[in-house]
Order: sequence, then structure tokens, then C-alpha cells
Amino acid sequence: MKRKFVNARLYRHEAATELLVENGKITHIGTGLPEAEEEIDLGGKLVLPPYVDPHLHLDYVYTGRNDGGQIKSGTLFEGIARWHEIKKSQTVEDVKKRALAAIREEMSHGVQFIQTHIDVTDPKLQGISAMLELREELNDKIDIQIVAFPQEGMYAYKGGHELVEEALKMGADCVGGIPHFEWAREIGEKSIHRIVELALRYDKMIDVHCDETDDIMSRFLELLNALVMIEGIGPKTAASHTCSFGSADNAYAFRMMGLLKASGINFISCPTENAYLQGRQDAYPKRRGLTRVKELLQEGVNVCFAQDSINDPWYPLGNGNMMNILDNGIHLTQVASYEELETAFDLITYNGAKALMLEEQYGLEEGKPANFIVLNESSVFEAIRKRVEVLASVRKGEFLFRRNEPEYAIPLGI
Ligand code: FE2
Repeated sequence: MKRKFVNARLYRHEAATELLVENGKITHIGTGLPEAEEEIDLGGKLVLPPYVDPHLHLDYVYTGRNDGGQIKSGTLFEGIARWHEIKKSQTVEDVKKRALAAIREEMSHGVQFIQTHIDVTDPKLQGISAMLELREELNDKIDIQIVAFPQEGMYAYKGGHELVEEALKMGADCVGGIPHFEWAREIGEKSIHRIVELALRYDKMIDVHCDETDDIMSRFLELLNALVMIEGIGPKTAASHTCSFGSADNAYAFRMMGLLKASGINFISCPTENAYLQGRQDAYPKRRGLTRVKELLQEGVNVCFAQDSINDPWYPLGNGNMMNILDNGIHLTQVASYEELETAFDLITYNGAKALMLEEQYGLEEGKPANFIVLNESSVFEAIRKRVEVLASVRKGEFLFRRNEPEYAIPLGI
């Protein structure tokens, strides 16, 4: 089936307005392209590659009230303690049901690529089993990468590192970790060494929950970055959160910036989550809780934004709408000059794809799968200013969904 999508405003393409799609792939991008069996008019709307959510906990979704929903400190550590209790009643079927609902919610907002951290500190590895099944069942609709994530520690949880290894053998794509949660700095460092060792042994990517604390003495990023640079696997590595780097002094950050750029490591920042969880021990002024997104971008380091939580013990809200994440992120990190806004969509599209090593299959380019979304605006600036909705999501040339523009019962005269 040959399809031509016409009258589009293509992100990162100045002049082209048409996409020719054959057998699920983009064969041509341009104007005045040859006729096709079907022609679809996109009404001059903005076309982006699909949103990427590079950090999401699909096994936790919609459990925020499962223990009564009493939030006391509102910190990361309280969330972990609450999850410890909630997960006791978890089953494979229950995880699959909730995860599927959250995936649908994300897809309804234009997401087609998710990297999900699944807790492996469970001797039955139920979360991993559930996600492996779901990944398979949904592989024609959405790409899912799974991180073997030891939520209660590689070493703080007895045998945690062995469960991570087991999950990798079962088919997880990525090694996770949580060094700032281990019981001593030295053990956190040991976990970083183990993460890199496992990634090398099983040829996996790395995504570490790294320094998700305001404690400026939490500097596991430094060790992670050094080790992956030595091994030459920086581009396969992501450091998620790195909140403490946002609190570090400038002399330390200056030294680190050069090393972070040299390694090619990726950063995943979770704006809504960390603005909510961090700064809880601060009086005023209260820290924002985010890493140095603006400065990392200026250095040429790859940074992307993620949802992290959808109504779980850590964070009551979240709905998979990456436009909301982008909006919060660019405000909290002050990445919102007119110039920065022109490329701000990269933070929830191309940069996420790079962190997930999807570059060969991702993007509005000839020869790549015809995956894209259509936004309810024609310019990048207006789309972000108005935080517009996704009108359609196309996967391999077929609509996953298509919705109409809202109609107003009362004429607004604009
Ligand atoms: Fe997380």
C-alpha cells in the first residue's frame, strides 16, 4: 500500500510538506511527490516523530492509593518504603493489567517508545515476567525497552544483584541500579562496578537511577561516567535523575562537564517527579530538584525528559502526556528562550531516541519506519506555547488513532 501524507509542516524540515509511505516506511520526503493509492491531507499541522518516554515505572502505575495513599514526607525514600508493602500483593496478571492501561494512556498522547524500569527485588521476578509478555504482545504498536531495576538495592536487598542478572538472562534490555539507596557510599560504588560488569558481560545498555537526592555528597555519577568512558560504552549508558548534580557547586560541575561530554553518556531528567520529591528537607529557598539540564545541553551532552511515575507511591499524578512533561521541564530548567524553544521538542523526541539507542529506526527520514504524530498546531513555537494535543499517531504508515480538533459550542470570535 502506497500512501501520501500531504500538507504537513515537518519538524526539522524547512521546505518539505509531503511524506510518501510504502510498506510502512518513509520512501520520500519533499514536495510535489508522485501520486499514491491514498492521499491524506494533514491540514498544515505540525508533524513530529513520536514522543519517547525514556523512563517510566510500568509495574508501579495506579498503585498510589493501594496502601491508603497517606503521604507523609513526600520523599523518594518514603515512596520506596510504601512500595515495599504494596508489592507484596502483586501478581503477574495485576502488573500486566495496570501496565497495559498506562501504555494505552501514554499512546493516546502520542508516545510510541518507552523505556521502563521494572523492579527485580522480588524473588519471583513477577514484574519482569509480566513486562516481557506485554512487550511481545504489543510489539507492533509500541516499542518497549525493559530495565532490570533493583528498586530496594543491589546489595541493600539480599541477592539483588543476582536478581538483576537473572532478569537480564530472561530478556531485559538494560541494567539498572540505585547506588544512593545502598547502605553506604562504598556499597553504592560497588553496585556501579557491578552494573558496568553486567552490561559488558551480557552486552546490555545501562540506565542507573543515579544520585536522586539533594545530598551533594552523592556523586555516583562521577564513578559511573568514568567506568563507562574507560570501557567505551558511554553512548549506551544513561544517568537518570542526577538531582544532586543540580545542587553541586560550580567548581565541581565545571570539572565534571568536560568528562561527561567526553564519555558520551546520556541524561534522563524527570521534571515533574523530581520537582515533587526533592527539596523536601529544605527550608526556603527550596531547590527545584532537577539536574543541570540547561548547562548540559549547552555543553552538547544529550539530555531528555521523562514521565517516571503515573499515580504510584512516589507521585500521585502523571498521565503520560509528554507535552506536560516538556512544559514543566522547560520552565523548571529555564530552557525557554525563543531559540531554545525551536528545538525544545528534541527533549521528548530525538534526544530520548538517542538515549535509547533507537537512532537507526527513529526520525522523519527517508528509509525509516513511517512513525509520526500530528499536533494541533502548525508552528513549533505555538505548539509549545499552547501545549497542544496530539491529533493523530501513525505507526508504520497506519493510524494508531486519529481525533478531531475540538469544536466550540460558543463562538469565541478569534
Ligand atoms: Fe525512576
